[in-house]
Amino acid sequence: MPRLSAGSPHRVSFKLNGRMVFGQAETRMLLSDFLRHVLGATGTHVGCEHGVCGACTVQIDGVPARSCLTLAVQAEGAEIRTVEGLAPAADHLSLLQDAFRTHYGLQCGFCTPGILMSLDALLRDRPEAIESEIREFLTGHLCRCTGYGSIVRAALQAARKLREERRHA
Ligand code: FES
Ligand code: FES
Repeated sequence: MPRLSAGSPHRVSFKLNGRMVFGQAETRMLLSDFLRHVLGATGTHVGCEHGVCGACTVQIDGVPARSCLTLAVQAEGAEIRTVEGLAPAADHLSLLQDAFRTHYGLQCGFCTPGILMSLDALLRDRPEAIESEIREFLTGHLCRCTGYGSIVRAALQAARKLREERRHA
């Protein structure tokens, strides 16, 4: 990565949910703040801002990552996926989102975007994931409302449907 001077804004550009975006960021600006305040992508939530709660999780080049522990300038040239990019169409939820709705996998919804982005990555790579694996994956996320049971049920349903979909593809 090139050496960047502190204190002056830099142009940052990357693909956000399949579309090229750009904006100005000082070197110390967090990716979470860049997404929300510069690009207006407020679907990514910010809780603790120090890597504990998981609310700010996005996918960077397909891998779940804390956007509050990533500098905006580090995202230069990357493919970033956020919760806004999950639904295949404005009137059509993804399998995972639909399962969350069916199983009441959210209450206040603050933790939900981060959890969805983590589970989306897990199930894409491991649709055969079993409950213990899903629970372990969720240890990176704090939810103060649901008690996690409904989230796990939603993830298991999504995994089942994903496997069926792939079998018939
Ligand atoms: Fe990033 Fe809590 S806001 S982990
Ligand atoms: Fe409220 Fe998880 S649904 S924090």
